[in-house]
Amino acid sequence: MKTKIFDLNENNIDFQAIKEAAEVIRNNGTVVFPTETVYGLGANALSQEAAKAIYAAKGRPTDNPLIVHISNIDMLLYVIGESLSEKAKKLMDKFWPGPLTLIFKKSSAVPEDVTAGLDTVAVRMPDNEIALELIRQSGLPIAAPSANISGKPSPTKAEHVIGDLKGKVDVILGGSNSRVGLESTVLDLTGEVPTILRPGGVTLEELQTVIGEVRIDKGLVSNEAAPKAPGMKYTHYAPDAAMTILKGELPMVVQAIQHLADEQTKLGKLVGILATEETKHSYHAGVVISMGSRSNLYMAAAAIFDALRQFDKQKVDVIYAEALSEENIGMAVMNRLKKAAGFHIIEISS
Ligand code: TXA
Ligand code: MG
Repeated sequence: MKTKIFDLNENNIDFQAIKEAAEVIRNNGTVVFPTETVYGLGANALSQEAAKAIYAAKGRPTDNPLIVHISNIDMLLYVIGESLSEKAKKLMDKFWPGPLTLIFKKSSAVPEDVTAGLDTVAVRMPDNEIALELIRQSGLPIAAPSANISGKPSPTKAEHVIGDLKGKVDVILGGSNSRVGLESTVLDLTGEVPTILRPGGVTLEELQTVIGEVRIDKGLVSNEAAPKAPGMKYTHYAPDAAMTILKGELPMVVQAIQHLADEQTKLGKLVGILATEETKHSYHAGVVISMGSRSNLYMAAAAIFDALRQFDKQKVDVIYAEALSEENIGMAVMNRLKKAAGFHIIEISS
C-alpha cells in the first residue's frame, strides 16, 4: 500500500492536507494522526469494513475493542445508547478535550467490530487540533487504537509511526511529539461505581476530586484477577530485550542495577538502564536513559515509550529499570513499565 505522509504543525494547520485525509476516512481508509496522548491509527467508527482495516494494519487481535474519537457532543450522543449521567457530564466538562476515555452503553450505530462484540463503547475527545480538525472535516467519529504495531511501545513521535506503519495505512499525519506521552485513562461508567480499567493521563486523584468514589479494576491491582479491559491481557509496550524492574530504597536499587549490569557486561551483553535525573550519573556501564526527574513524573510519562524504542534501536540485550512512585501520574507510568517488563519485578529489601 502506498502511504501518503504529511508533516503538520498543530499551531499552523495545513487544512488542505486534513481535507485529503478526511476524504480517506469517509472512504473507509486508514489515517494515522497525532493526539496529546499517543498517535492514533484512525478509521470511520461507523463502518465494519473500516474497523477491519485497523485491526489488519496493526496486527491487532480482533477481541480488543477500539476507542471512538469525537469532536463534539452530538457525535457522542450518536454513538452511545443511554442518556448522559451527571457524573459523565462533570467528567466531560472538566477533562474533555483530554486524556480521559469513558465507557458507555453503545448505540446500534457502532458496528460490533469496533467494540469487539461488547455492548459498550469507549469514547474520548482528544486535545489536539489536528485530530479534532480531522474528525470535524470527515464528519464522522473516528475509531483509533494507538498507532503502533500490536505489542510494541505506543508511538509518541512522527518517526515512530512512520517506522511502524508506512506501507500499511493510507495516510500518516505527522505532527509534534505527544505532550502527555502515554494513553488516556479508561474509566468504565456502566457499573455502580466508576472504575478505572486502564490508568492514564488523567489520574485517580483528579477523578476523585470531580466525582468522588472511583474504583480501580482488580485486574490492575493483582496480576491474577481476570482483566476487564480486554486489551489488558495482551503483552504490551514490550521492547525487544527482556526487561526487569528493580524496586526498593533508591540507593539499594542503583547498587543492584549496577551489579547486574556489570555481570551482564562481563558476559558480553549490551545493557540498557532506565534511570532518572537523580541517578543517571551513578551508572558506569551500558546505555543509560533518563526518564526525567523523580520530582515530576509527567516528564517520565512523556519519555518512557520513546526510551523503550531507543533501547530497541541500540539493540541492547537486557534492560534494567528503576521503579518509580505509583502516586498520581506515577500509577500510569508504572503500569506501562510493568507491562513492558512482563511483570518481571525484583524487590530489594535492606
Ligand atoms: O490515548 C489513547 O487512548 C489512545 C489515543 C490514540 O486516543 N488510544 C489507545 O487505544 O490507547 P488502544 O486501542 O491502544 O487502547 C484502548 C483501550 C484498550 O485497553 C481496550 O481494551 C479499552 O481501551 N477499551 C476499548 N473499548 C472498551 C470497552 N467497550 N470496554 C472496556 N474497555 C475498552
Ligand atoms: Mg495500544
